[in-house]
Amino acid sequence: MNKQEIIICHCLKENLGQAIARCPHDKLFVLVDKHTHECCLPILSKYECIKDSQFICIQAEDVHKNLETLAYVWKELGDQGASRHSLLINLGGGMVTDLGGFAASTFKRGINYINIPTTLLAMVDASVGGKTGINFNGLKNEVGVFSPAKSVLIDAEFLKTLDMRNLLSGYAEMLKHGLISTHEHWAELLNFDLNHIDYTALQTLVGKSVKIKEGIVEQDPFEKGIRKALNLGHTVGHAFESLALETHRPVLHGYAVAWGIVCELYFSCIKTGFPKEKLRQTLQFIKEHYGVMTFDCKQYERLYEFMKHDKKNSAGIINFTLLSEIGDIKINQQANKEEIFEMLDFYRESMGC
Ligand code: GLY
Repeated sequence: MNKQEIIICHCLKENLGQAIARCPHDKLFVLVDKHTHECCLPILSKYECIKDSQFICIQAEDVHKNLETLAYVWKELGDQGASRHSLLINLGGGMVTDLGGFAASTFKRGINYINIPTTLLAMVDASVGGKTGINFNGLKNEVGVFSPAKSVLIDAEFLKTLDMRNLLSGYAEMLKHGLISTHEHWAELLNFDLNHIDYTALQTLVGKSVKIKEGIVEQDPFEKGIRKALNLGHTVGHAFESLALETHRPVLHGYAVAWGIVCELYFSCIKTGFPKEKLRQTLQFIKEHYGVMTFDCKQYERLYEFMKHDKKNSAGIINFTLLSEIGDIKINQQANKEEIFEMLDFYRESMGC
């Protein structure tokens, strides 16, 4: 997979101009959703470098990350005269960068695209690493391709308009990057003051977070091995997310991941010797900032079913990424049903639900 260029912007206008200049093209398109059309496009549309671009606007939110929206983007590209040499800029959160990346990678067998993520989750996770796709047949990210953006431009200015819940959702993925990297980075994430955000300091943390993901993706772009480190917290997290959806109290992805991290760090303590004190500190941070998702023991079976059917698992074997220390990653660890129920017991007791 080609390496994508990740730019932590100091001047978006200049950085975008340079990124566009590195991708010779006949026509330029900008994909936005209803939110970024209103909140972010006005910033960009003043720039000389996109003055001749054409716009495509899609519905916002994950429910629209589907075949219908994808077909709409393909059709708009075609109707507005895009060729194999056109360039697409995706301006938005993970929904726009995933779907836009997939649209670009398949239109006329693939055109170049640039991501400008506007949410923290998209900056530190979705827009980086080349995973593109859509939801299909009731399953998240069921159809897609690995296909990296030519450039990803990250500008924390966009975060100033993001609400706290969405900010925390992205921060959970940063916390995960802290856990799989170094003690120092993990500690600075736990000590960052989320109640009085210093956006310059946040941009520095985002830069470090993206570097961690980039380093892992470079080693294993197609998730055969070490890229599974990025799944820490996600085996249980995805099950929490699905249960929340099914019981009509949906949660943001990062919240589910944060709660999944509590379970999986506990299991790391038991199975791979992760230090209990670091579990305690991480748990405390998560409890304080993310609150708790409640469920009772009658729902354990359902959570277990969700884990078994997660696309990362097969033949009923439930795979985990665990840690034996911060930065000491143990991929391909398994848990049986009894162990999974024990994690859920720990979560309920320690989080007070
Ligand atoms: N979101 C995890 C990955 O990109 O592999």
